[in-house]
Amino acid sequence: MDIKEQLEQIKNNAMEMLKNNEDLESIRVKFLGKKGELTAVLRSMGQVSPEDRPLVGKHVNEVREAIEQAIESKKASFMEKAMQVKLMAETIDVTEPGKKPEMGHRHPISQTEEMLVDIFVGMGFSVVEGPEIEYDYYNFEALNLPKNHPARDTQDTFYITDNILLRSQTSPVQVRTMENTKPPIRIISPGRVYRADPADATHSPIFHQMEGLVVDKGITMGDLKGVLELFAKKVFGENTKIRFRPHHFPFTEPSAEVDVSCWECGGKGCRVCKGEGWVEILGAGMVHPFVLKNCGIDPDVYSGFAFGMGIERIALSRFGIDDLRLFYENDERFLKQF
Ligand code: PHE
Repeated sequence: MDIKEQLEQIKNNAMEMLKNNEDLESIRVKFLGKKGELTAVLRSMGQVSPEDRPLVGKHVNEVREAIEQAIESKKASFMEKAMQVKLMAETIDVTEPGKKPEMGHRHPISQTEEMLVDIFVGMGFSVVEGPEIEYDYYNFEALNLPKNHPARDTQDTFYITDNILLRSQTSPVQVRTMENTKPPIRIISPGRVYRADPADATHSPIFHQMEGLVVDKGITMGDLKGVLELFAKKVFGENTKIRFRPHHFPFTEPSAEVDVSCWECGGKGCRVCKGEGWVEILGAGMVHPFVLKNCGIDPDVYSGFAFGMGIERIALSRFGIDDLRLFYENDERFLKQF
């Protein structure tokens, strides 16, 4: 067999194999690889007369190209087929009924917080936030509670270092606000607070408060009373009354605890108000002159009032719930009711 015939033979064999075989790589190796049949022919060029060599070389290249092309086109048709299979498998049946996503909603504490914010924004307050990880200075010292002050014991505080703690009240936001805003000031500040209390029906180591602060010339206890009365009527109903009981907070003077007439019995006495007719809902008072001074505000020119309420307590009353722990257990059967 001369070289020409040999080359034709190789080409035919390759084409034949490509028809029935899917392993394109092994075909490529068998015919075109370093130890492949075509390379073997090139190696035997020594036997060809020098005049014939260019012609034979050309022929070898033609055969190589033909085989390469055949492999490439086979490869392309494989890919095409694979794509078809993939597309078929991924067909979307647009007539199939959709999956309905479960819609969540605001947590009852957030709902309550939003309601409170709305009421005070309606009275011209703006909302300010403060850090939950706070300096001892803002949480206590600037609020007229020096180190070793006995009133610190009433708020069992989580300390991180000697000077950094988880804020036990939202009152530090009063200080932060007065430090960098000039009166008139009219802000509320809702947020999380922390106290090292064991959890029970009325206590939780984490809960929410909302602080209020008004500072301007000529602010009196009458303004405080007017604001809180409006707030109480909006939350607990038009017929609600409020009552101030003298109390002590180091950062207000005078201070009061504020009760609302019982929303359940209207003041006659019932299970909710434990027969009292009144329910305590917040602490309040006139901002202590020392606190104003600590924040660079002249107490001879300006006066102000502040109040702080527990958001959980208001949520409990609003939703008629008697165990605070329910708010934190994330039980959908509970949360879905609100
Ligand atoms: N920060 C006080 C508390 O947590 C409440 C309060 C706020 C009292 C503002 C007076 C003025 O008990």
